[in-house]
Amino acid sequence: MTDAPAIRIRDLSKVFGDNAQEMMPLVHDGISKQELLEVHGHVLGLRDIELDIAPRSIQVVMGLSGSGKSTLVRHVNRLIDPTEGEVRVDDENVLDLDRVALRQFRRHRISMVFQRFALFPHRTVMENVEYGLTIQRLARKERRDRAARWVDRVGLGGYEDSYPHHLSGGMQQRVGLARALATDAEILLMDEAFSALDPLIRADMRTLLLELQAELHKTIVFVTHDLEEAIEIGDRIAILRDGEVIQNDNAQDVILKPADDYISDFTRNINRGRVLVVGSIMQPLPPGLEPPPQCPAELTLEEALPVVTTAPGEECCVVDPDGKPVGMVSTIGLMLALAGQQSDAAAGGNGHDAAANGATGGNGRPRT
Ligand SMILES: Nc1ncnc2c1ncn2[C@@H]1O[C@H](COP(=O)(O)OP(=O)(O)OP(=O)(O)O)[C@@H](O)[C@H]1O
Ligand SMILES: [Mg+2]
Repeated sequence: MTDAPAIRIRDLSKVFGDNAQEMMPLVHDGISKQELLEVHGHVLGLRDIELDIAPRSIQVVMGLSGSGKSTLVRHVNRLIDPTEGEVRVDDENVLDLDRVALRQFRRHRISMVFQRFALFPHRTVMENVEYGLTIQRLARKERRDRAARWVDRVGLGGYEDSYPHHLSGGMQQRVGLARALATDAEILLMDEAFSALDPLIRADMRTLLLELQAELHKTIVFVTHDLEEAIEIGDRIAILRDGEVIQNDNAQDVILKPADDYISDFTRNINRGRVLVVGSIMQPLPPGLEPPPQCPAELTLEEALPVVTTAPGEECCVVDPDGKPVGMVSTIGLMLALAGQQSDAAAGGNGHDAAANGATGGNGRPRT
């Protein structure tokens, strides 16, 4: 992905309190969030955030409660003004927008999906989905047609005239998603959008979101507490602690190369066999080892096990989606990766290259 970032965040800091500006030297000097609160009575929301979000990608934002996820996301459509720093959307500084321009920006360029759905209770499904189009001042017929298409697309055909309280949580969030998509905004902000749903419904919503993304190619900022969710849908995962980005990587690297103990704590209980892909843990191709046997780079470790263990010599040549040899993998290499111990060669960057070469997305999904 060589395109300019869709969202570019630079030196972004946010302090909550009456004298936020005066706190900035302390913030830059590295004062802890706790000391800023206890000694100076101010809350550190964000500190020196640098984040580029690629167009048409899903950027996940994770972190413990209070780490700054919502604060970060709300800067993107300027629901919050920074104490310091810059937020650019398609190279436009959102802080330069005056009131009218900001309203236009929020109507046309950015949509939000909320955790508690935030549907209008006294309006029908159709009227809820039409909402953004009404404020865009679209003609009634076009509004109706467009909203009907989205209601249908999120699987709610037949429920057009129902009211939100007639719908289950999952269905209500489908309405929320349809409402956000109907405006055609290129950026979608989703703050814990699926967190209030039951696990099975959540999984359905993730599938729906990924299907839609494969068609629509939005730029999505997706906040979640759930690492499995982050891994499944995120092209990149930024992990916050006390208002700072500790790591921002694809899922494979977050698991294989955690920046510190805080990050490894997040990933400790993940099922590595289902998440890590061969391309991330393979070793350099030794001279002379040519296919067959072959093992596709995008297979998860679990999928690769039967392939590799039954190959002669229990090793395979790893191939990218074009069939090009890119490395090798052995049973012992798979075992080590499953156990969370990599060999030095694999840790040295082959995984990175495989992902960068487009063998798979960072989450192991083939790139679309
Ligand atoms: N309006 C505000 N006034 C004062 N402090 C605030 C305000 N909004 C957020 N904060 C503080 O900023 C920090 C980051 O809050 P934020 O809501 O962004 O966290 P979060 O990561 O979204 O948490 P959660 O997972 O609970 O939603 C917290 O310490 C919070 O108390
Ligand atoms: Mg939050």
